This record gives sequence, C-alpha cells and structure tokens, in this order.
Amino acid sequence: MEHIYPIFDQVVSRDEKQSFLGQKGGVFWLTGLSGSGKSTLALSLERILMTKDYFPSLLDGDNMRNGLCKDLSFASADREENVRRIAEMAKVLVRNGIITICSFVSPMENMRKLAKTTIGESDFHLIYVKASVETCIERDTKGLYKKALKGEIKNFTGISAPYEVPEQPDLILDTEKYKAEENIENLLNYVLKCVKI
Ligand code: ADX
Repeated sequence: MEHIYPIFDQVVSRDEKQSFLGQKGGVFWLTGLSGSGKSTLALSLERILMTKDYFPSLLDGDNMRNGLCKDLSFASADREENVRRIAEMAKVLVRNGIITICSFVSPMENMRKLAKTTIGESDFHLIYVKASVETCIERDTKGLYKKALKGEIKNFTGISAPYEVPEQPDLILDTEKYKAEENIENLLNYVLKCVKI
C-alpha cells in the first residue's frame, strides 16, 4: 500500500515474548451452537491455565459483540465480519505469545476457514463443542431459543439460520455425552501439549 511503512521487522520477536511468558502462543477456537457449552469451557480453561502459571486471553462472542463488534448483526455477512475482526485480533495476541481462546458460534465452514487463514494454519486449533439443537433448546440457559422458536429473534443459529458441523476439527468436546469436568480435562490436555515450551 502507498505511504504505509510497516515496522514488523523491528518489533520484539515472538520468540523473546514466548520465552518471557514461558509458553508457546496458540489460538484455540471453540465453535458450536449457542448453549453448547463453549463459554463455560472457555472460562474454565482460562482460569485453570492461570493457576498453572500460563498467560491466556479469552475472546468471547457475547463480550465482543458488546464492544468491537457492536455494530454487527447476525446476518451471514455480518457474522463473517465478526469472525474476521476476531481473527485479526487473535493474530495479534498469538504473535505476542499469548494463549488465545476464542469462543464464537462461527457457524459456517467458510468463516472458520477465514479465521484459520488469517491466523495461520500452525497457530490455529479448531475445537468443536458438540451438542444437538434439541439439547440446546432444552438447556436454553439464556432463554433465546424460546424466543427464536416464537420467531422473535431472526437468523437464530440452529432455528432459523444454519450451523455447519466442522469437517475436520482438531478436537471434539461432546457436552451431551460427557460431563463438564471430563471435557475440561480433555481440552486442557490438548492445549497443554500445544503451549508447553
Ligand atoms: S457468530 O455467529 O457471529 O460467531 P457470536 O458467537 O459472535 O456469533 O455470538 C453468539 C451469541 O450471540 C450467542 O451465544 C447468543 O447469546 C447471542 N445471539 C443473539 N442473537 C443470535 C442469533 N441470531 N444467532 C446466534 N446467536 C445469537
């Protein structure tokens, strides 16, 4: 681009940052329906990593849509823009050696592919938090499914908007079959293998 002079080559290197933090950075991207258990798992993971002296950062859909992505709707193009912004943010964090946990519905394969390409394949780990629509409707922790079924929320994932099951996730956490503690342990073991220096 004209009149732009990036200084990427002068910033403190990722290796130096990672040595300082005592960890390897990585992006752990949780996808799944609303109510599948993404936020619960992400919050536990962040907390446990801290107790083990790691330095994580959590980016969560509901939080980001309160700030950086406030202007976006749930129409497909806006969801893609949501994922694009988060992926750009995650890229900055991971290049600073931070263990970045992203918790977003990110319903379509092309959105997740965009995140993977933006962040870089070797830093991107896709985790599918699996629960059927029926189970999420039963749980309905936020009361959103009830509203969506009555037609009060449009483009609601699983009801009036699609969710594509990931084709090749790196890890599947089935929150119908397994208890929260089992899924957390599984997730933690996976993450620790990736971030240990
Ligand atoms: S994404 O599809 O763009 O990745 P994101 O993860 O940011 O979604 O936000 C999802 C959260 O927004 C849900 O957990 C839910 O609380 C809320 N929400 C509000 N409207 C919708 C909708 N139409 N579809 C899905 N989630 C919605």
